[in-house]
Amino acid sequence: MDIGTRLFRSALLGLAGNRAARALSQKYGLKLGAGRFVAGETMEDALTHAKRLNAAGIKVTLDYLGESISSMEEAKESERAYMALLENIHREGIQGNVSLKPTQFGLALDQEQCGEGIRSVVKEAERYGLFVRLDMEDSPWTDATIALVRKLRAEGCCNVGTVIQAYLYRSELDVHQLSAEGINLRLVKGAYKEPRSVAFDSKRVVDANLRRLIAARLDSRAYTAIATHDEAIIRYTQSYARTRGIPRSVFEFQMLYGIRTPLQLALAKEGYTVRSYVPFGRSWYPYFVRRLAERPANLTFIMRSIFSR
Ligand code: FDA
Repeated sequence: MDIGTRLFRSALLGLAGNRAARALSQKYGLKLGAGRFVAGETMEDALTHAKRLNAAGIKVTLDYLGESISSMEEAKESERAYMALLENIHREGIQGNVSLKPTQFGLALDQEQCGEGIRSVVKEAERYGLFVRLDMEDSPWTDATIALVRKLRAEGCCNVGTVIQAYLYRSELDVHQLSAEGINLRLVKGAYKEPRSVAFDSKRVVDANLRRLIAARLDSRAYTAIATHDEAIIRYTQSYARTRGIPRSVFEFQMLYGIRTPLQLALAKEGYTVRSYVPFGRSWYPYFVRRLAERPANLTFIMRSIFSR
């Protein structure tokens, strides 16, 4: 990553946590261009997009946006929203599951209550035969997120998994241990601002680490979601699986809503399981900023859409 791109990414990721910028963006709704990455502000919006994607052969994971809340009342609100979401997925026969962020359930405020809220969602999902993925946030929450998943599994919930980020030094060991425990993982490059003390900051090294993690997971046969828009890594996964005789039933590709849709469709057509991550809700601002930070060209796209009004 060149120095300009690194500074740009760091400055934007700094803005993701900025309350004033968040409040300002909220005022203008999805009109600033966030609609390209967010399925809408309501559950109905998200369900409509989910059905469209399903009709095109793509599964979904629905994410009710929200993170870093400031009261446990907000956590309760998220829990209620996820309960309703699960019921809707079930009732409408949507091919999908849900992803949630532990800080949205109060991980930074009260770990015990947070665990109870997430447990209720996982139990409800279990009743419907649905899966719950705990997204991975920034590194202060890695241990607690993994511990939550382990605890739920120890209680007999097999419908829960989490995410491992290739930019963290610790991830190789985490993948090794979690694979031995048979835990369902999504592998990603990593989207947060992290210090050099915990994460690689070279794109080349992160990409190489992701490939290593993919190989380790495929060899373990534990179910894995390869979540990337990087075609070279997708090709690497396909070829690794082919040469090692690893069945397609033990992995899937995941991409974000609104990004590389033609590639999502092409992979689904080739017979791979493809899942689109569909976020919705009013708290879209930090999610949107992370998408901008991933690709400088996105900012040009947004500026153009604002000034062409
Ligand atoms: P990379 O950034 O190298 O991009 C490869 C190519 O994809 C780019 O050249 C571009 O063409 C396209 N692309 C990538 N990002 C784009 C964007 N924002 N807009 C337009 N085009 C783009 N992270 C995390 O820390 N915790 C998590 O729980 C998750 N969860 C998650 C779920 C799913 C389904 C996905 C796909 C991703 C995540 N991530 C995540 C985000 C992940 O860590 C990473 O930041 C992004 O996926 C971007 O990295 P790529 O692997 O796509 O590669």
